[in-house]
Amino acid sequence: MRTVTIAAPATSTTVATTSVATTTKTKPASSNSAKGKSVFLASACASCHTFKLAGTSGTIGPDLDTKPEADAKRARMSLAAFVRESIVKPNAYISPGYPSGVMPQTFATQLSKKQLADLVAFLTSSK
Ligand code: HEC
Repeated sequence: MRTVTIAAPATSTTVATTSVATTTKTKPASSNSAKGKSVFLASACASCHTFKLAGTSGTIGPDLDTKPEADAKRARMSLAAFVRESIVKPNAYISPGYPSGVMPQTFATQLSKKQLADLVAFLTSSK
């Protein structure tokens, strides 16, 4: 009698499935405050601003935990709109007690729309 050795079944079936289903490229660019934190930490904001959620303690610019809320009221803007404007056009409103022309004017071109939206979401997330 002959013995036939049957090869173990190929294990290739599990290989191809992982990468396809998990990539969701089509999702609309909704803002993400967790990503905003990375943008904040990568954009030198920390060196000038205190912001608890980011764990930073800069004092050249206003404390972002409290000051934007008060200034948004003075400027009669929603907090999100005010924070956004303060990042892309820092000199549109100068926070009382702080110098103009110190906050970089370059973030409007340096950050993508998505990064800016994430950053604003992060800065307003605890409000
Ligand atoms: C070189 C220092 C410096 C850097 C870097 C900097 N800022 Fe500022 N920022 C300031 C100063 C000074 C002010 C106050 C003057 C003004 O209102 O523009 C300010 C104002 C602001 C305000 C408005 C606060 C208020 O109550 O009016 C926001 C919001 C803000 N910065 C966010 C950011 C973010 C986010 C980043 C990083 C993308 C950043 N800043 C980077 C110095 C800086």
